[in-house]
Amino acid sequence: MATVAELLQPVEADLDALLADLRSLIGAGHPILQAAAEHLFAAGGKRLRPGIVLLLSRAVAPDGELGPRHRRLAEITEMIHTASLVHDDVVDEAATRRGVDTVHSRFNYRVAVLAGDFLFAQASWHLANLDDLEVVKLLSRVIMDLADGEVKQGLFRYDTGQSFESYLEKSYCKTASLIANSARAAGVLTGLPGAQLDDLYRFGRHLGLAFQVVDDILDFTSSDQQLGKPAASDLASGYLTAPALYALQERPALAGLIEREFCEEGDLEQALELVRGCEAIPRSRALAEGFAKEAAGALEWLAPSDPRSALRALPDFVLSRLY
Ligand code: IPE
Ligand code: IPE
Ligand code: MG
Ligand code: MG
Repeated sequence: MATVAELLQPVEADLDALLADLRSLIGAGHPILQAAAEHLFAAGGKRLRPGIVLLLSRAVAPDGELGPRHRRLAEITEMIHTASLVHDDVVDEAATRRGVDTVHSRFNYRVAVLAGDFLFAQASWHLANLDDLEVVKLLSRVIMDLADGEVKQGLFRYDTGQSFESYLEKSYCKTASLIANSARAAGVLTGLPGAQLDDLYRFGRHLGLAFQVVDDILDFTSSDQQLGKPAASDLASGYLTAPALYALQERPALAGLIEREFCEEGDLEQALELVRGCEAIPRSRALAEGFAKEAAGALEWLAPSDPRSALRALPDFVLSRLY
C-alpha cells in the first residue's frame, strides 16, 4: 500500500511551496504567537487536507495547472486544520502532537488559545481576500462546525446513552466538514456545475468520516509513539467513539465503569480490555470501510490523470493506517 508521501507525489512540489508560504504568512503576527504556530508547522503533519485540495484542483483544471487562488485555498485549509488541533489539544489537555510537545505544553494555555484564534483569524482574512462569497460561506461554515463539534463532544462525555447518530454528527463537525467543504470550494473556484460540486463534497464527507473512525480505532490499538500523540486517551476522557459505542452493545458491564468515570483502581484498564476483546474493533473497521467505499465512488467521473489516480487511492490509504 502506498504511503501518504507517495500518494501526494503529484502535488509534492506544490505542498513544499505551500508550507513555505504558510510560514511566511503567519510571520506577520506577534512574535510569541508566530513561534507557537511555527512550532506545530515545523513538526510536520501529513498535509492530507491541503494535499486533497491541490490534487482535486489539478484533477478538475482543464489544463491540469494550479492557479494562485487554488493554492491559497489549500493554505487556508491547513491553517484552519492546525488551529483546530491547537484548540483541541487544550480541550483534551493532551501533552503531545505530531511527535512533539503540544503548543500549551511548550508555551502555556493562554498562548495556545490565542495562537489558535490567531490562525483562525488569519485563515478568515485570507479567505475573504479570495473574493468569492460562495467559498467564504463554505469555509466559514467549517469554522462554526469545528466549534460546534468540540461542544457536542464535551456535552456527551461519559454519557452511555449517546446515540451512534450523535457520534457521527460530532465526527462530521470536527473532521469531515473541513475536508468536504474545502473539496467543494476547490470545484467552486474552477466553476464546476452543481452536480460535480455535490460529488466533491460527498467525497470529502465520506473520506473524512472514514478518517475519523480510523483515528478512533487507532486510539484503542496503537501506541503513543506510533501516533505521535497520546493513545488510549478517548475513553479515559469520557469520549465515546465507535469502538466504545459498539462495545456497550456487547458488554453491558462497560456502562457501569464509564458512568462512574473510572474512579476506581483498574476501571480504565478493565474498560479498555472490554472494548479490545469484543467485536467492537472489527465492527468499527467495517464502518470505516463503508465510508471509504462511498468516497471512492464519488469521483468516478474525473478524467484520467495522476492526481485522479492518487485521489481514488486515498480511501484505501486511510484504511491502510489500521494495518
Ligand atoms: C488529526 O488529523 C485530527 C483528526 C482528524 C483525527 P491528522 O491525523 O491529519 O493530523 P496531522 O495534520 O497529520 O498532524
Ligand atoms: C479530530 O478529533 C478533529 C480535530 C482535532 C478538530 P480528535 O479529537 O479525534 O483528534 P485527535 O485524536 O486529538 O488528533
Ligand atoms: Mg482530540
Ligand atoms: Mg482522536
